[in-house]
Amino acid sequence: MPTYKLKINGVSKKIEATPDMPLLWALRDDLDMVGTKFGCGIGQCGACTVHIDGTAARSCLLQVSQLDGKEITTIEGLSPDGSHPVQQAWKEVDVPQCGYCQSGQIMTASAFLEKNPNPSREDIRSAMHGNICRCASYNRIENAVVKAAEKKMA
Ligand code: FES
Ligand code: FES
Repeated sequence: MPTYKLKINGVSKKIEATPDMPLLWALRDDLDMVGTKFGCGIGQCGACTVHIDGTAARSCLLQVSQLDGKEITTIEGLSPDGSHPVQQAWKEVDVPQCGYCQSGQIMTASAFLEKNPNPSREDIRSAMHGNICRCASYNRIENAVVKAAEKKMA
């Protein structure tokens, strides 16, 4: 099997994999980075969201052979100690219910706020729209993104 080098959270990792192995599989099964969740496996739920060069992307749809030279950030690398403004806002608003979707929500929100630091509530709803929450924590998610934006602007 070929070997691929992936740069994840600033660290270079080598894995042996078939070219079409999804990044999500590599993260969870080969590298034991299980903060990124498997929801649908077909790009429909957002549970597996990571950042690729700063942009939110679904790791279930990315193949390891496509990622040479890309900066991959997972929930484990968003901040060393959970102090990212989005993580802080999430705690203050007490967003999670079961928690399963939450790392994907946080990764989508954090990439979004880098691109749009002063969003309207409509912008937030539109940006977060593709991340499904079975527990319907959508109102708290929206409020937490508002709070995170305030923290980033402060
Ligand atoms: Fe990737 Fe659902 S697991 S979008
Ligand atoms: Fe349970 Fe979102 S908190 S799926």
